[in-house]
Amino acid sequence: MRVLIACEFSGVVRRAFEKLGHEAYSCDLLPAEDKSVRHLQGDIFKLGLPWTYWDLMIANPPCTHLAVSGARWFKDKEEEQKEAIEFFMKLTKVNIPRIAVENPISIMSTKYRKPDQIIQPWQFGHGETKATCLWLKNLPKLIPTNVVEGREPRVHMLPPSADRWKLRSITYQGIAQAMAEQWGENFTKLKP
Ligand SMILES: C[S@@+](CC[C@H](N)C(=O)[O-])C[C@H]1O[C@@H](n2cnc3c(N)ncnc32)[C@H](O)[C@@H]1O
Repeated sequence: MRVLIACEFSGVVRRAFEKLGHEAYSCDLLPAEDKSVRHLQGDIFKLGLPWTYWDLMIANPPCTHLAVSGARWFKDKEEEQKEAIEFFMKLTKVNIPRIAVENPISIMSTKYRKPDQIIQPWQFGHGETKATCLWLKNLPKLIPTNVVEGREPRVHMLPPSADRWKLRSITYQGIAQAMAEQWGENFTKLKP
């Protein structure tokens, strides 16, 4: 299966698919943290990617101007928010048969539509809370793989640092693995 992980610098989801034998590439404005050759650095809409090449895209667009947690700043960021909405919407419309777009609880639930699913890290082996919305095209909802007891919002308690937003935004390993196992392994059973 050919998988494009849009807006990923960490390589977490890319590597989860690679481990299961898929051809996976990540793409981000930033370089890949693991320096993988299977990373395309640049604006996803300016790299000239052949959309029809891919079987699946998983996209993690920036949430800074969309997340409900930042609502108090919205009135000063109207232009940035408009651009963020447009970018999110463009990702939902690319010509790839299976698409998952993820974001935290955000204004996209009203600007676009309600998400198909809201998942939590504690459903996938991490004792933490961080509601993550998934908008799905031709993909089944993710089935929790390992429900654990911990319910700490640990990620919000990271000390201030230049890298804080990066650390907060990295996809959880357990969620990446579930995506690869459930959307990759069984993809022949999925539509279309
Ligand atoms: C919320 S972070 C997602 C991080 C991801 N979960 C990971 O584990 O690496 C959003 C990412 O979108 C990237 N991004 C923003 N605009 C982009 C664009 N036009 N093309 C490609 N990537 C973009 C940012 O550089 C940022 O790394």
